[in-house]
Amino acid sequence: MASEETKITLRESELPQRWYNINPDLPAPLAPPLHPKTGKPLAPGDLAPLFPMALIMQEVSMEPYIEIPDEVMRIYRLWRPTPLYRAHRLEKHLGTPARIYYKNESFSPPGSHKPNTAVAQAYYNKQEGVKRIATETGAGQWGSALAFACCLMGLECTVYMVRASYEQKPYRRMLMESWGAACYPSPSDLTNAGRTIRAKDPDSPGSLGIAISEAVEDAATHDDTKYSLGSVLNHVLLHQTIVGLEAKEQLRLAGEEPDIIVGCVGGGSNFSGLAFPFVKDKLKGKQVDIIACEPEACPTLTRGLYRYDYGDTAQLAPVVKMYTLGHTFVPEPIHAGGLRYHGDAPQLCLLVNKGVIEARAYHQLATFEAALTFARAEGFLPAPETAHCVRAAVDEALKCKQTGQEKCILIAYSGHGFFDLAAYDKYHTGQLEDYEYPQEKIEAALKELPQVTDPTA
Ligand SMILES: Cc1ncc(COP(=O)(O)O)c(C=O)c1O
Repeated sequence: MASEETKITLRESELPQRWYNINPDLPAPLAPPLHPKTGKPLAPGDLAPLFPMALIMQEVSMEPYIEIPDEVMRIYRLWRPTPLYRAHRLEKHLGTPARIYYKNESFSPPGSHKPNTAVAQAYYNKQEGVKRIATETGAGQWGSALAFACCLMGLECTVYMVRASYEQKPYRRMLMESWGAACYPSPSDLTNAGRTIRAKDPDSPGSLGIAISEAVEDAATHDDTKYSLGSVLNHVLLHQTIVGLEAKEQLRLAGEEPDIIVGCVGGGSNFSGLAFPFVKDKLKGKQVDIIACEPEACPTLTRGLYRYDYGDTAQLAPVVKMYTLGHTFVPEPIHAGGLRYHGDAPQLCLLVNKGVIEARAYHQLATFEAALTFARAEGFLPAPETAHCVRAAVDEALKCKQTGQEKCILIAYSGHGFFDLAAYDKYHTGQLEDYEYPQEKIEAALKELPQVTDPTA
């Protein structure tokens, strides 16, 4: 019998003590990451200039659970456990027999799920004596999460922010600066990667691929500095599983099991963080539809190829097997800036490839419409990224209205939209347009995929 409560909360003492690692449960072996120069499988030591050893070991770990350090737990308690909401008012507004829940990650200080890994990454860097962390950011959510984490851990932080977002979202930059980080528009003149791109295209709007190249180069050329990535890598997905582990316990308290799980996908971290603990059950035979939602403007999972590709534009980051639109992909500046990466997390891609997870792409106008339906019923204003899976949840709830099925739908509510009000304003005044990424551009970018041998093919 489902509970009628609006917020299902856990006590701090009920915070999960361990993250869940999906690596040992994957239904097929993961293709190994390759060295960008040699094309040979990476050895853990190859990543040492970029990441602290503890994170490299998590990247390749086959342990099913990894203990969360006490210092990370102490910072998590500032906003965790996050509440699981029952969307009673949205259900009523839609007139659906479905029961809709959303795991609300917007309560963290920077306003999204991103600090779940930022705090952990800052901790392991500090443990290994690192003084400064360099990173990239798209929408500014990741940059502000790392700025927050470095501030609390006493580390310096440098953020390369995709120029289109830097210009659209000055308030995210100001937030990063408030936590003491330095934030530069990318491509910048501070790195070889940035200068090369600006020489060819002085007005380049930037891309996550370019900003990653800049941050990787910064870390690789400074002894006291390491690099940090806010998505895609296994250790990032691992840290995010605290979201799904909490949600599972909260649904159990509510007397529920999800029939449908939806989340938006940029590089795959919030979606995987919520979904992976449930994927574990699905792989053992439990029926649940798990839907990854992405923009039509960056349709990686729905229209990309499942192939080895570079993680960044300048070909400095490891080559990994993933769905990709090509590392030279420069997306249109749609507002869901956090969903514009050319690839996705290899674990997530494998699960999509094996049919365990379904992928769907959405046009931006439809996502803003759903976000406003949600905000007018529930009060919370979703980030434009989050709006993608809110759209999917509303569509599924409306299907239930037609069929009469009383399904339980779980939403990965990854962040709030308070720094995205300019995008909402454009929507209100009819200035936003749909954009579908042209097939010719996908085909052109895919011609530049690296010629490497796939050991799992
Ligand atoms: C609120 C929000 N949701 C989702 C994402 C997408 O990232 P990921 O796929 O790693 O969760 C971002 C990225 O910046 C974000 O800011």
